[in-house]
Amino acid sequence: MTAGSTGYGDAAAADGTMRPRPGRVADWGGIEGPAVLFGGPCSNLQATRALLDAAGDATLICTGDLAAYCGDPGATAAAVRASGARVIAGNMERSLAEGGADCGCGFDEGAACAVMADAWFAHADRGIDAKARAWMESLPDLAVFRHAGRRWAVIHGGGTAVNRFLWASTPEAELAAEWAAVEALTGPVEGVISGHSGIGWAREVAGRPWINAGAIGLPPNDGDPRVEYAVLEGGRARLRRLAYDHASAVAAMRGAGLTQGYERCLETGFWPSQDMLPPGLRRAAEAGA
Ligand SMILES: [Fe+2]
Repeated sequence: MTAGSTGYGDAAAADGTMRPRPGRVADWGGIEGPAVLFGGPCSNLQATRALLDAAGDATLICTGDLAAYCGDPGATAAAVRASGARVIAGNMERSLAEGGADCGCGFDEGAACAVMADAWFAHADRGIDAKARAWMESLPDLAVFRHAGRRWAVIHGGGTAVNRFLWASTPEAELAAEWAAVEALTGPVEGVISGHSGIGWAREVAGRPWINAGAIGLPPNDGDPRVEYAVLEGGRARLRRLAYDHASAVAAMRGAGLTQGYERCLETGFWPSQDMLPPGLRRAAEAGA
């Protein structure tokens, strides 16, 4: 996708930046006990069910992108909604709710991710009914809550843009600027929880924790098919891995004609879209791309 051809109505600016909407900040109050933080269910129903089973009685917090690469968009979104998880909108919810024509990530036309997105976005778009779209439209873009004496913000990508990719390698000064943009919307926070980029990380920004909980629907490009989430407990958030029935998730993708490369990713643990990653995170040789 090229700048200026975002194709999803008012969800993004002409340059592809999808900004948080004014007033779309939810206050979830105080949360007691452990919280399971997860993002990017990505239409992977098998992984989503495994995560919900593993979470037990923990509070569920989802950073968005319920429907994307995998085979079961409608059932996955319904499972997350029925779980009672607290959910913010990702770029996928924004785009689907507004009848957009693509995922809203803002990739350049011809990039591997943009080429493969044509198939999976159409599948996701067909699988999300009007009721689910209305629910997605109602979701906040950010949320705040208190846990163990700390005020946290939940965002999708960055503070300046819902579809901003931030990585373990992003310079701290950039993260600090994104943090300030979050606080301009939420007021002061002592921790940030994000998603969107699909590879989890935990950093400190001026001594305050920022955790990207990764994606539950795709493995984090390290050759291990287990997916990733985080647990917030005792004032700290830690990343965890989760094994699930990925063979059934692959079968669902093949059955839906989603054979552009992401189905192999569920088995190999390597992404087919290495060109959207910072150079230090690319594993193209191992992926056999
Ligand atoms: Fe996203």
